[in-house]
Amino acid sequence: MFKGRSVEIAGIGAYVPEKILSNADLEKIVDTSDEWITTRTGIKERRIAAEGETTSSMMAKAADLAIKQAGISPSDIELIIGCTATPDMAFPSSACLVQKQLSIPNAGAFDLESGCSGFLYGLSIASQFIASNAMDTVLVLGGETLSRIQNWSDRSTCVLFGDGAGAAVLKPGKSGGGILNFHLDSDGTYGGALCLPAGGSAMPASKETVEKNLHTVHMDGREIFRQAVTKMTESALISLGELGMSPNDIDYYIPHQANIRIIDSVAKKLGIPKEKTIVNLQKYGNTSCASLPIALYEADKEGKIKPGDTLLMTVVGAGLSWGTMILKWGHEK
Ligand code: ACO
Repeated sequence: MFKGRSVEIAGIGAYVPEKILSNADLEKIVDTSDEWITTRTGIKERRIAAEGETTSSMMAKAADLAIKQAGISPSDIELIIGCTATPDMAFPSSACLVQKQLSIPNAGAFDLESGCSGFLYGLSIASQFIASNAMDTVLVLGGETLSRIQNWSDRSTCVLFGDGAGAAVLKPGKSGGGILNFHLDSDGTYGGALCLPAGGSAMPASKETVEKNLHTVHMDGREIFRQAVTKMTESALISLGELGMSPNDIDYYIPHQANIRIIDSVAKKLGIPKEKTIVNLQKYGNTSCASLPIALYEADKEGKIKPGDTLLMTVVGAGLSWGTMILKWGHEK
């Protein structure tokens, strides 16, 4: 149960690169078809970062919007949490790189790695600094340049992912909005089902790791699919149960945008209708840590989610890690 001071998302921002890679474009790269990708995943196109664009540069653009919407100045930010599985480099952290780009003075900054679950984990951690009165303003970033870690000859993975970023400014709740609770869980025994094998201390970069494509996404799609449906459903029910709520109390369900069949299966198990489920993966594919904030940003901008709405967000990602957050939407304009 969420304890302490109420915490709300006071500002939300997102950025996606201009370049669109459609399913038709992919047909020219690997042996696939628009029909296969659409029916198996729901994805029609994804964005690809331009040369020179990086995770931190996209995060900075998203953060700029979130900071403006929250009506704060960069100097108000006390902590920056960068959530990503594709940082610009192993160190310094993406959070520090964004701090430099936005000239944010005197803020703590670090990166958090939890696969596609990262942004929800980041929001949960950030909320605790505010709930406990330790801080008033925390910036949470979620960004990925997944196009740079694809094996562009592996049709079973390269069709799934896209690039982009999102950001949220968290502040003490003033507008009646606020995080109601969150649930985080993981099971490291599924680590091998979704990983990037080389480039870390277990398998440093070498000619061989490059030749064997070990710096790219390796995934057991069927296992991830099964686990995603089970864990996201269980987690949502745990969070709802803790608040004494049922799926009927939810105004909008905003899931991690990985695959329409995963989203539909979870929504069906929870009894949440299509019109209450936010889906934008047809435009962006799976953008991992950027997935939730981009969906939130668009739903807010389009006026779909409104102050006072109760939102259910569920995620799953490498680790395996998963989680849920339930919150009342609302931010001061
Ligand atoms: N185009 C055409 N055919 C393809 C493609 C493609 N892009 N990819 C795979 N196939 C083929 C396979 O080779 C296989 O052919 P075969 O039967 O001759 O061997 C056939 O399609 C079926 O393959 P499956 O892997 O069984 O297909 P499935 O229906 O499981 O769909 C998919 C694959 C889309 C990857 C699915 O398993 C999935 O979405 N899993 C979840 C993975 C995910 O979302 N990961 C994202 C990261 S983790 C996260 O965010 C949760």
